[in-house]
Amino acid sequence: IKKIGVLTSGGDSPGMNAAIRSVVRTCAFHNIECVGIYRGYQGMIEGDFKELGPRSVNNIINKGGTFLKSARSLEFKTPEGRKKAYDNLVKEGVEALVVIGGDGSFTGGLLFNTEYGFPVIGIPGTIDNDIYGTSHTLGYDTALNTVVEVIDKIRDTASSHNRLFLIEVMGRDAGHIALNAGIGAGAEEILIPEEDLGLERLLDSLKKSKSTGKTSSIVVIAEGDKTGKNVFELKDYVESNFPEYDVRVSVLGHMQRGGAPSCFDRVLASRLGVKAVETILEGKTNFMVGLLNDKIELTPLEQAIKGHTEIDRELLRVSDIMSI
Ligand code: F6P
Repeated sequence: IKKIGVLTSGGDSPGMNAAIRSVVRTCAFHNIECVGIYRGYQGMIEGDFKELGPRSVNNIINKGGTFLKSARSLEFKTPEGRKKAYDNLVKEGVEALVVIGGDGSFTGGLLFNTEYGFPVIGIPGTIDNDIYGTSHTLGYDTALNTVVEVIDKIRDTASSHNRLFLIEVMGRDAGHIALNAGIGAGAEEILIPEEDLGLERLLDSLKKSKSTGKTSSIVVIAEGDKTGKNVFELKDYVESNFPEYDVRVSVLGHMQRGGAPSCFDRVLASRLGVKAVETILEGKTNFMVGLLNDKIELTPLEQAIKGHTEIDRELLRVSDIMSI
């Protein structure tokens, strides 16, 4: 292998820049060339490439987002799009790909490998932490810290006004952010997509804590929670069943995807980038590099895509006990 291409795809996450830096510098360390592919698979189709050397990635370890940009390419889902992408890689002399992204990005990479035998290694990057084969995805730790910091601020105003705050966090299909940040921020209740905790239970818990002297409360709700009500409908529901509380809603939104990566994410990105390049140099393909028991391990891409990440049930119990 003489030249490796690197791209970021799908929803961005803090730590992606640090991972690109690691891939580029590991290539330089092993005397191979590295090409940055802009805007994910869309840039591959359009030949939007740039040679990257160790000095091209100065001063980005601390930056959120991805300087290579990200996109969700519809054209790459077609055989014609993938053919264009393949032709561009061949013309550029790129012989293997490092794909930084989530399961949608890995699915594209796997398909590309099946059709063209092109070596692909994945690095898990998403704040949702919903990829099998790694205890942490890139950006998850940073997002948790961001959410906790913001909820701490909301707590100040919630307690000053004796209010109940319903706070929506990201997680269309996964409750990892809600559960961990919820416990970290001292939430009264946490609603997640993986488990239907029930609206009755929410009311009971709020009533119980009010009757035992709580004057304000924080409820953390994942975007994709199971109640079937969005956060504003939940507000109406709580207000009409429990008028003692003055309820406010905060939707944290995309701010959770931005910001400087935490030290944990920077170290993880650096380790994953080294392993991704060295796995390619060992002649392997179709693996994802991930963190398991504090070691960087390989998981077949297919498993990473299809496997389910489980919610840690111990955390549900801890959350329950804390809200007494
Ligand atoms: O990156 C995953 C995620 O953060 C989800 O939790 C969220 O629902 C989604 O991205 C939002 O994506 P978009 O930026 O396309 O609206």
